[in-house]
Amino acid sequence: MGREFLDIFENWAQSYDSSVYGHDEQYRDVFDGYETILNTVVEKSGNVVLEFGVGTGNLTKKLIEAKKTVYGIEPSTPMRELAKEKLGDVTIEDGDFLQFPLPNEPVDTIVSTYAFHHLTDKEKEEAIGKYSALLRKGGKIVFADTAFIDREAYEAMIAEAKQKGFVDLAEDLQREYYTTIPILERAFTTNGFTVTFTPMNRFVWLMEAVKQ
Ligand SMILES: C[S@@+](CC[C@H](N)C(=O)[O-])C[C@H]1O[C@@H](n2cnc3c(N)ncnc32)[C@H](O)[C@@H]1O
Repeated sequence: MGREFLDIFENWAQSYDSSVYGHDEQYRDVFDGYETILNTVVEKSGNVVLEFGVGTGNLTKKLIEAKKTVYGIEPSTPMRELAKEKLGDVTIEDGDFLQFPLPNEPVDTIVSTYAFHHLTDKEKEEAIGKYSALLRKGGKIVFADTAFIDREAYEAMIAEAKQKGFVDLAEDLQREYYTTIPILERAFTTNGFTVTFTPMNRFVWLMEAVKQ
C-alpha cells in the first residue's frame, strides 16, 4: 500500500543517483548533506535492521559496510534491480511500508531515508503501529525524510519552488504526502515511542523513535 507513486521511479531510477549527488538543481537542497544523513542513520542503528524504500541501495550499502544484518524492502522493480547490481548478493524483497515479508529473526531497528512521505498521514500512523508491534522495548525507528515544522512552512516551500521556476519540485511537494512534525510526533507517541526530531537540511528531518 502507498504504492501509487511507483511510476515515478520507473522513470527516475536510472538517474536517481545523479540527483542525490547534486546534479539536479531543483533537488540540490533536498539532497544537501545526503552522505551525512545516511551515515547518521547508520550510526543510530542497531545490529539487525529492517529497511524500507531501499531505492538504489545507498543506505543499505553503508549498513552492510558497518557489519549490520539488513533486510531490505523495495516495491519498485527497477529500483530493486539497481540496488541488487550495486550490492551483489543481498536480499531485497518486494514489499512496502505496510505489507512486507517478515524477517526471520527479531529486528532491533527499522530505518528508511527519503521514502516515508509516500504514505498518507493515516497510513503513516498505521505503519508505525505495525512497527511498534514488531519491536521490543528499546527497539528503534530511525527515519530521515522531508517534513515541515508546520503547514505554513510547507506552503512557503512550495511557493519558493514555484518562484525559482522549480516546476518538478513544486509538483512533487504538492503531489506526495509530506507532513508536519506535530503530526509525526503524535503518530509515534500514540504508538508507544518517545521521539526526537533533528533538522538535517532545509527539507529533511532525522526522526529517532525509541519503543518504551
Ligand atoms: C526517493 S527514493 C529513496 C531511496 C533511498 N532510500 C535513498 O535514501 O536514496 C524513494 C524510494 O521509496 C520507494 N517507495 C515508494 N513507495 C513506497 C512504499 N509505499 N513503501 C516503501 N517504499 C516505497 C520508491 O520506490 C523509492 O525507491
